[in-house]
Amino acid sequence: MIEGKMVRLRALEQSDLERAYEWANDREVTRLLMIRYPMSRGDEEKWLSESSGQNGFEHGVRLAIETKDGAHIGVTGLHRVSPEDRCAELGIMIGDKSFWSNGYGTDTIVTLLRFAFYQMNLHRVGLGVFPFNERGMACYLKCGFIEEGRNRENIYKDGRYWDVIRMGILRDEFDKLHGEAEAETATATG
Ligand SMILES: CC(C)(COP(=O)(O)OP(=O)(O)OC[C@H]1O[C@@H](n2cnc3c(N)ncnc32)[C@H](O)[C@@H]1OP(=O)(O)O)[C@@H](O)C(=O)NCCC(=O)NCCS
Repeated sequence: MIEGKMVRLRALEQSDLERAYEWANDREVTRLLMIRYPMSRGDEEKWLSESSGQNGFEHGVRLAIETKDGAHIGVTGLHRVSPEDRCAELGIMIGDKSFWSNGYGTDTIVTLLRFAFYQMNLHRVGLGVFPFNERGMACYLKCGFIEEGRNRENIYKDGRYWDVIRMGILRDEFDKLHGEAEAETATATG
């Protein structure tokens, strides 16, 4: 487990299937993500079985987000991990909407970044966010991400093209904001 202040990040399990299936088909959630088409239980089963036990540089990192009292509220991870460049892309979905805007996203991201920088020895983490995702933008800025640019009209949603805002954070920027000393607390046991 990777322990944060409000959440713990753990390996995904087959028993997470029903929740992952429900979230991946919730339009309020998926309009904020790259997911466009409805997902079948089979798609989700395949995704989950590909995710379990595969964490690392080759396949990326996919983890369940749990509250400290054990409620599974979402999924996060790192993809496009490059061992040569020491960089990766971050993804997050708090699928249980009743947990939005309560600090869980911020704690998840800071916890995952701490793991990325101090356990995986990454140098940079980037992400893309849609301009209509104000909550996501506010959360990333709080975590220390910096807006780096835009891929103009890179996504088509709700009848029009939208820019994708590119954001990133470097390890030394994370150190200044969240403290190198806290690296000690980034524990991973499974
Ligand atoms: C985006 C997401 C990870 C953020 O996590 P979260 O737990 O909801 O966010 P947090 O509470 O940590 O931080 C959100 C901040 O945005 C603020 N916020 C919420 N709605 C806002 C809005 N419409 N405009 C501006 N700020 C807003 C909150 O007040 C909070 O800031 P504060 O703590 O200073 O008050 C989560 O909402 C989520 O997974 N959403 C669905 C999928 C998604 O958008 N994934 C990311 C795709 S790039």
